[in-house]
Amino acid sequence: MKTYTTILLHIEQEVLTITVNRPDKLNALNHETIQEIGDAVQVAEKEPSIAAIIITGAGQKSFVAGADIAEFSNYSVEEGKKLSADGHAVFKNIETCSKPVIAAVNGFALGGGCELAMACHLRIASDNAKFGQPEVKLGVIPGYGGTQRLVQLIGKGKAMELLMTADMIGAEEAHRLGLVNHVVPQDQLMAKTMEVITKIKAQSPKAITGIVRSVDAYFTDGVDGFKTEIEEFGKCFGTDDFKEGVSAFMEKRKAEFIRS
Ligand code: COA
Repeated sequence: MKTYTTILLHIEQEVLTITVNRPDKLNALNHETIQEIGDAVQVAEKEPSIAAIIITGAGQKSFVAGADIAEFSNYSVEEGKKLSADGHAVFKNIETCSKPVIAAVNGFALGGGCELAMACHLRIASDNAKFGQPEVKLGVIPGYGGTQRLVQLIGKGKAMELLMTADMIGAEEAHRLGLVNHVVPQDQLMAKTMEVITKIKAQSPKAITGIVRSVDAYFTDGVDGFKTEIEEFGKCFGTDDFKEGVSAFMEKRKAEFIRS
């Protein structure tokens, strides 16, 4: 893998961990960081030796404390639109990644940080994590999909409240609302994340991709998710994963799927 300036990469047990590495700015996302995350995810998606991706933040205090406010403080309307569109493209690629992407949220997940976590397929939070969309305090709205994905994950009423009040919520409240899948003590965050990834990694990679496509179809305008499911279900029958999965069941052994 390449080396980057604002993110760190680590590969272990076929899992790529992308660590946003600007701890002195609480891992705020500047333009370069967003492009580097996007690039790393695209490279990992094409690399057969990588089965899954974790996104986390450097240090004990923050996952990502938002878009870099200093960077956009003098932006014009057009520059604001481009900032948002560029971020949307990267976050969409994360959301539609054919391999599982899990956010390990180790502290503040505010603004673009909450949006980055929401673009991932699952979210595991440490007990000190804090979530919020405080953009209205700055006179802006979320620009990386927050108004859409927060509604999808927790429903309109609660999403409206968080978006309008700029309130920060703790990990337990985020769990209660369905914003995160699990909450664990901070020193167990990566172990729990790996535990969940290990379960997913043992399944058919092609079926996992079918799951991502079918679930995403539910949220895609003009697409009938039921039709997508029929297509994706049918495609499975032409895969080696299906032959292996069914043979393993018949032979009463554990399936060994080959990543390609
Ligand atoms: N953009 C740019 N810099 C940021 C940042 C952001 N979103 N969030 C934090 N930082 C920087 C601070 O400016 C500070 O830098 P400095 O030491 O050079 O002054 C450093 O990170 C540490 O932050 P600080 O505010 O001193 O930490 P804190 O513990 O007192 O407060 C927060 C933590 C998260 C509550 C506070 O940093 C904050 O409100 N950040 C902005 C959150 C936000 O509005 N995000 C949405 C942006 S659209």
